[in-house]
Amino acid sequence: MFTLETAATAAYVVAALLFIMALAGLSKHETSRSGNTFGMAGMAVALIATIALAISRHIEPLGIALLVGAMAIGAAIGLWRARVVEMTGMPELIALLHSFVGLAAVLVGWNGYLHVEGDLSGAEAAVLDGQNLLGIHSAEVFIGVFIGAVTFTGSIVANLKLSARITSTPLMLPGKNFLNIGALVLFFALTVWFVITPQLWLLIVVTALALLLGWHLVASIGGGDMPVVVSMLNSYSGWAAAASGFLLSNDLLIVTGALVGSSGAYLSYIMCKAMNRSFISVIAGGFGMESSGAGSDVDYGEHREITAESAAELLSSASSVIITPGYGMAVAQAQYGVADLTRNLRERGITVRFGIHPVAGRLPGHMNVLLAEAKVPYDIVLEMDEINDDFDDTSVVLVIGANDTVNPAAADDPSSPIAGMPVLTVWNADNVIVFKRSMASGYAGVQNPLFFRENTQMLFGDAKDRVDAINAAL
Ligand code: TAP
Repeated sequence: MFTLETAATAAYVVAALLFIMALAGLSKHETSRSGNTFGMAGMAVALIATIALAISRHIEPLGIALLVGAMAIGAAIGLWRARVVEMTGMPELIALLHSFVGLAAVLVGWNGYLHVEGDLSGAEAAVLDGQNLLGIHSAEVFIGVFIGAVTFTGSIVANLKLSARITSTPLMLPGKNFLNIGALVLFFALTVWFVITPQLWLLIVVTALALLLGWHLVASIGGGDMPVVVSMLNSYSGWAAAASGFLLSNDLLIVTGALVGSSGAYLSYIMCKAMNRSFISVIAGGFGMESSGAGSDVDYGEHREITAESAAELLSSASSVIITPGYGMAVAQAQYGVADLTRNLRERGITVRFGIHPVAGRLPGHMNVLLAEAKVPYDIVLEMDEINDDFDDTSVVLVIGANDTVNPAAADDPSSPIAGMPVLTVWNADNVIVFKRSMASGYAGVQNPLFFRENTQMLFGDAKDRVDAINAAL
């Protein structure tokens, strides 16, 4: 028989399909807009179905009003934040959103405990007991609260680090790996205990343990590795949502949580490969950061400077140019000037291409989005692996607001904190012009020997300003 409940369940299946289509769409620039539209449509269907389900289950009017009110307030805040956030502030906003998912999972877990384990003579406990599912419920509560609390504090620390409200240098507590492994072992022991005899104090202990572990895991990781951490927390938030789905018997939450959990884990894996980091050591928290700021005391000699006019001259006599943008291009909003410069040079018959490092900027695809916004053709925007061998045959490289992603120390200096991370080998070109405002280091806080190389010249100033000056001189 067709009821509101069956309609809502069918709508959940449609929403799950729309989420899968959203992920498929988001995997390519060309289809990313439609991917976003599928995601929004899926979320709208899911929200309406949730209200319908609540009505079909005869939830009292106050409950429905609270549900609709919460959705309206959440939607208003979400719209406001999405409108005002700068592209450069996106990762910290995403980190903050992950913390909400974590907190929700903790609250759902606690709610599950209070209704079942905390009220063993109540109706819900009796139903679960009759089906022999009480132990499974306890495990779901405990695991859900644990993952949720780790995600909650971990995401808050990531947000604080990304927004530079706390230092991005890794916290180095003595025996940090031992602390992490000890916390995990304790969690497994407490889970077994809780499943056998569910008691309130065990839940309090695991909540506190997970909050501390989340904090410690992310605090131990250095700034340069934050992108992987954000995508890992994305994955954790998915698993936390899936755990809530089990507790609430909500299939859509389980499917969506699993989609977010697995795609986040896969993205972390791809980023680890791109940055030459071990995936397992990221999950374990804090890796490769035993040395910090290495190289900062080394004297690399003097750097050389160039003016916008001389840069324009150099460019007009070049046969091929590669532009490697970074975070500074986003800060300066220089992409429109860069697009004009590209057009200008191509009209003179000069080959211009872009080299995009997988973690340039502050979030995956950051540079691609900016360049697409400024209408730079996709076919001249190449990934690092596609362009790294071509620097040898390049007359001029323009490093626009990039730093860590073009640091030769990653390739040559095993003691560098970013040692082993693949970088754009810009120094192999005939001439390198670096656009930045000072000799300050980049996100990872590491000195960059590129600035002192024979074939490198620094063009100081705001990137937008300098690019506009070159355009004017050309
Ligand atoms: P960074 O190493 O962060 O360097 C950016 C450079 O831009 C700085 O050295 C800065 O120098 C310059 N800059 C800032 N504002 C500028 C302006 N208005 N005009 C001109 N220059 C300006 O950038 P990157 O090479 O793109 O590397 C990205 C870093 O961020 C990596 O360490 C990466 O691990 C990390 N990270 C990446 C992500 C993702 S997923 N992409 C997420 C979080 C963190 P001045 O101050 O001297 O101008």
